[in-house]
Amino acid sequence: MKDIDTYDLSWDEWDELQRPAAENTDFDAVVEAAISRRGFLTGVVAYGSGAAVMGTGLLSGTSAEAQAASRFGFTPIPIATDGTVHVPEGYTWHTVAKWGEPLFSDAEPFSQDTAVGVASSDRVFGENTDGMEAFVVDGRQVIAVNHEYVNTRINLPLTEGETTSADDVLTLQNMQGVTVMEVAEGDDGWAIVVDSDLNRRITHNTPMTIAGPAAGHPLLQTEADPVGTTALGTMNNCGAGKTPWGTYLTCEENFNGYFGSTDEAFELPEDYARYGIGAEGRYGYEKFDPRYDVSKNPNEPRRFGYIVEIDPSDPTSTPIKHTALGRFKHENAAAVIAPDGRVVVYMGDDERGEFMYKYVSNGVYTPGGPTSALLDDGQLYVAKFNTDLTGQWVALTPEATGMEEAEIAIFSRVAASKVGATTMDRPEWVAVNPVSVEGYCCLTNNRNRGVKPNAGGDDTAVNGPNPRAENNYGQIVRWFPSNDDHGADTFTWDLYVMAGNPTVHDDAYAGSANINEGNLFNSPDGMMFDSTGLLWIQTDGDDSNEEGFVGMGNNQMLAGDPATGQIERFLTGPNGSEVTGLTWSADKRTMFVGIQHPAAPFPDGEGQLPRSSIIAVKRADNAMVG
Ligand code: FEO
Ligand code: CA
Ligand code: CA
Repeated sequence: MKDIDTYDLSWDEWDELQRPAAENTDFDAVVEAAISRRGFLTGVVAYGSGAAVMGTGLLSGTSAEAQAASRFGFTPIPIATDGTVHVPEGYTWHTVAKWGEPLFSDAEPFSQDTAVGVASSDRVFGENTDGMEAFVVDGRQVIAVNHEYVNTRINLPLTEGETTSADDVLTLQNMQGVTVMEVAEGDDGWAIVVDSDLNRRITHNTPMTIAGPAAGHPLLQTEADPVGTTALGTMNNCGAGKTPWGTYLTCEENFNGYFGSTDEAFELPEDYARYGIGAEGRYGYEKFDPRYDVSKNPNEPRRFGYIVEIDPSDPTSTPIKHTALGRFKHENAAAVIAPDGRVVVYMGDDERGEFMYKYVSNGVYTPGGPTSALLDDGQLYVAKFNTDLTGQWVALTPEATGMEEAEIAIFSRVAASKVGATTMDRPEWVAVNPVSVEGYCCLTNNRNRGVKPNAGGDDTAVNGPNPRAENNYGQIVRWFPSNDDHGADTFTWDLYVMAGNPTVHDDAYAGSANINEGNLFNSPDGMMFDSTGLLWIQTDGDDSNEEGFVGMGNNQMLAGDPATGQIERFLTGPNGSEVTGLTWSADKRTMFVGIQHPAAPFPDGEGQLPRSSIIAVKRADNAMVG
């Protein structure tokens, strides 16, 4: 039996177990000497008065002026610590789709005792909803949504979460991946259109094409696919994105944890370490599915860690893995068109001390024109932030990295380290403001900042956009592309907010000045702009409501005004949950919000299994909500 505690670990905690903190090293001593806490704080004060941190000095989110000028249209709500969802007065919510709910009428109904059986497991809404996007297909509303991972104990109740057979593995595999589903609003609110011909499940076993510079490379060839161009499945689908041409982008994040070795003598290839691929998988797949056994299929993990494009309008279409967008722990994909028509995709790599990237297509997008090469033929860049509030997107070219184009696509982290990219505090979602030329990235937290290097050995001493050692609160960095051009190689930047707790701290850990007792949160994670340019921030942090996190309550969703810095709490999730995933109905009168891994018996109440769900949030007067 597995140590039961590991079931409750988040992905980053699990990864940390595989790569324990180093003993005190020379590195620690250097950090200690270079940035004593006192020196660091002095630096931040100087920084703030230079307006690097938006909330410090220039703006106050709680001022009467800011309140009077509020664009939010809702009364902020207090924190919650209970087991359900709360929204402001004048708003309502209801459940649209929950784990195990049939997408097709031939699936067995969900069972509170046995959850979902293997036969129905690819015919139902998967577990742990994450990034999502809404589409209109022939006038019908379609949501494509990720199912990031599984809570094995509730998926496999008969074995207390242990994978004991190929069927157990297949059940878990099918609970993950992506759902594409038609939804419709009836008298009882929004619901899945069961048996819609647009409904589709994409799982760990769905065939997909590998495209871009790494397609066909020997490192991607396997016994089952000797050509290296056809992969099976997508996994650990975290954040998402939408292309200008109406397809869905799903992002493979913690793919490393699905692989293991059944042969103790197997020597792990050198490149595994940077990506955290080890000898023991998190789910025991390798024991029952040889594809996940790296001693038999050492190239298989190199076929994951990409961004996958799915056409939600065609359930028979083959998803495409776009290797030109790099291989790392992809969080989400924020696509935007540069003034010259090139497609720009901003991306984060969610691991302590990893990087922020962008991709720029070589070709240009024209509405209705060809799009097939736009995500395969282009340039990958990585961000370098300077302390003078400027920055560069450094092109990851063979000249700059000494690596071949295909190697840059497969080992993007290594390429980025070679050009000295800025190590970041776990880049989660990136969002692009639709009404102003600026991008935002949630840097969710990083307890290793100033403590130890990243897995590539890169220095993670405090730096401009990551200004606090042992950062448990997180911040949101914002950049302004030169010449108002998302395709530009340079930018200026500031911090939109540093989360913190002014009721506990009186130093930089109190957060920036747009943090106050009324809007406390930690670990900004999901993030989307609505069509009016309001920034919606979702959290995945410490919900203990104790010590440094007192007054923050359960994970939540807040709205931010980019112009004033004001941030207010809009929604609180059930305890134990992460609020992640946000999209809107075509008429913008409904906001769809994802509730992942609740600990409380949400949404069905006492005695029922907790079920990750998408909820619909509306105004009681049916006015627009985004
Ligand atoms: Fe899946 Fe980094 O969140
Ligand atoms: Ca996330
Ligand atoms: Ca997170």
